Amino acid sequence: MSTLLDIQNLSSGYGLGNVLQEVSLHVETGEVVSVVGANGAGKTTLLRTVSGLLTPTGGQVVFDGQTISGVAAHKLIKRGMSLVPEGGRLFPFMSVAENLELGGFTAASRQDNRRLVDEMMTLFPVLGERRNQMAGSLSGGERQMCAVARALMSSPRLLMLDEPSAGLSPQMLEKVLQMLKAVVAARQVSVLLVEQHVEDALEMSNRGYVIESGRIVQSGTGAALMADPNIQRAYMGL
Ligand SMILES: Nc1ncnc2c1ncn2[C@@H]1O[C@H](COP(=O)(O)OP(=O)(O)OP(=O)(O)O)[C@@H](O)[C@H]1O
Ligand SMILES: [Mg+2]
Repeated sequence: MSTLLDIQNLSSGYGLGNVLQEVSLHVETGEVVSVVGANGAGKTTLLRTVSGLLTPTGGQVVFDGQTISGVAAHKLIKRGMSLVPEGGRLFPFMSVAENLELGGFTAASRQDNRRLVDEMMTLFPVLGERRNQMAGSLSGGERQMCAVARALMSSPRLLMLDEPSAGLSPQMLEKVLQMLKAVVAARQVSVLLVEQHVEDALEMSNRGYVIESGRIVQSGTGAALMADPNIQRAYMGL
């Protein structure tokens, strides 16, 4: 295995002191890694910083062997990083297909973009059935699938997901996570997932990190973290 993403002592925030405090973590090629923590712990801030939407105040991010701190978000997408933002952030008055086409802005040609859209419709049959439906009228689960498909349109090597569980029923969440597992296996994409549904996230992860108040306080394999009594008490309601 080789290291795809290496985050070292990363700090960042919104002007009034740092939210992220010297966060270090890594994702190896082929791994699913989750960062779990409560509301306000800094999960979204972490993904925004890694994906170039926020400028770090300290530390560095190395992606595929190159330092990327300060590189603009659209350039990082071209280099193989893709983010599914919190809530999906689809364009509600555009169709499913049009949303996907936007995600494929990196494609070499219009034909390539169309081919990728068709590929996504095969990968997510539910989107194929709703190809021309406005994204704003999709159900929560369909919206998440559309957001994941849009992020996959740039053929990323690293897919980052910000709380894909948000607003989903337990059954729908199960479906979305199953779909995610299948995609990871089929497309050889590595995943960095942030979630407050700790158990669901750890269950599908090779490794996980626990974030509290902007700091990583614990890490280990998904199985080891799930078996940890402190984590069970604090995050899993056991
Ligand atoms: N644009 C912003 N300006 C100022 N402070 C912000 C901004 N966005 C987030 N914060 C603050 O940064 C901290 C971390 O927020 P963040 O969104 O990263 O948490 P989170 O772990 O993603 O939470 P959640 O699980 O609720 O999505 C919070 O205290 C939040 O209020
Ligand atoms: Mg968040």
